[in-house]
Parts: sequence; structure tokens; C-alpha cells
Amino acid sequence: MSRHAWLLAMLLVACAARAEGYGLGHAVDAARLRAADTAIGPRGVELPPGSGSVAAGAELYGRQCAACHGAHGTEGPDPVLVGGQGTLASAHPVQTIGSYWPYATTLFDYIRRAMPFTAPGSLNDDEVYALTAFLLAANGVVPQDTVLDAARLATLRMPNRDGFIPDSRPRH
Ligand code: HEC
Repeated sequence: MSRHAWLLAMLLVACAARAEGYGLGHAVDAARLRAADTAIGPRGVELPPGSGSVAAGAELYGRQCAACHGAHGTEGPDPVLVGGQGTLASAHPVQTIGSYWPYATTLFDYIRRAMPFTAPGSLNDDEVYALTAFLLAANGVVPQDTVLDAARLATLRMPNRDGFIPDSRPRH
């Protein structure tokens, strides 16, 4: 059986199970769907309202992130977030937000969905904007007096934006 046919068969079994009252799954209402639909694309059109300053982000970072990423984002032990620009083509590339990430909007998405590591989803949107502003400022992408919101974040251009080469080979 092909992979698609197999998936379709599984889906039909799941539907049948539900229809017959085995209590599997539940209908998704609009509110539940909205809560799960947090993806922010590169152009940032899905970014929520709110804003945050570099200063507020620095304070939050010190309390909630520095223990794992280092006081300046360069020390670790967990991934280095700051610096590394100009090292990608060297013998010791340091991949960070500033040296590697092609889109600033991804940073908002990533922090909101995944950090802090031990309590993902615990930050509100203003706090995520502030942390995004702080990390972008630490990487020299925005000035220290920046207050970041959706409009500003969507217009930022990351240093390594043109460092990716589209792979035109067909995928299987
Ligand atoms: C308990 C340790 C811990 C804390 C606290 C923590 N992080 Fe992380 N962070 C990690 C780990 C581990 C990874 C790598 C996760 C992976 O690759 O799956 C990571 C990855 C990241 C990345 C992606 C780095 C990259 O280039 O791939 C960002 C950005 C980030 N964290 C930001 C934050 C921010 C902002 C906070 C504070 C709100 C925070 N982290 C708090 C452990 C932590």
C-alpha cells in the first residue's frame, strides 16, 4: 500500500472509531484553533499587537534566560545567541541569531513557542517583543533605544539574509 493510501486508511479508521462512539478525538472549535495557530511567517503578517523595549528585554533576559544562555548571550552553556558574525565561512563557525538567522520574525515565533526552556508559553506578547528587541540589539541589528512592535519587526533585515542558497533539486 502506498504511504498516502495507508494514511487515508488510518484516517478512515479513526473517523469510524469516533462515529461509533469510542470517544477518540474531539471537534476543534474556532477558539481552540486560534490558540494553537501561533506560527509567524518570515514576513511577519501574523505578528500580534504589543511592543517591548530593549531595556525591558534586558531585565527579563537576566532573570529568565541568562542562567542557560550566559549573561551576554555569548557564554552558554546552552546555544550561543549573540555574536559570531563573519565566522560562518571560517574553520570555527559560530551560528547565532546575528550571524546565521535569515529572518528576525522567526525569533519572536521561537521565543514565544519554545522559551524559557522549562516553561514554554509562559511569556506574554509584550515580554516576547522585549526579549526579541534585546537579543536583536545585542547582535547589533537594532539600536539600544529600540521599542519593537509588529510593524518594526517585520521590516528588519538580518545580516545573513542573503547567506542561504535555494536548493532547486526536486524533493522526494
Ligand atoms: C533551562 C535552560 C534554558 C533557559 C532558561 C532558556 N533557554 Fe533558550 N535554549 C535552551 C536550549 C537547551 C536551547 C536549544 C533547544 C534546541 O535546539 O532544541 C535553547 C534555544 C534557544 C534559542 C535558539 C538558539 C538557536 O540559534 O538555535 C533562542 C533564541 C533562545 N533559546 C532564547 C531564550 C530566551 C529568550 C530565554 C529566556 C526567556 C531562554 N532561551 C531561556 C535552554 C534554555
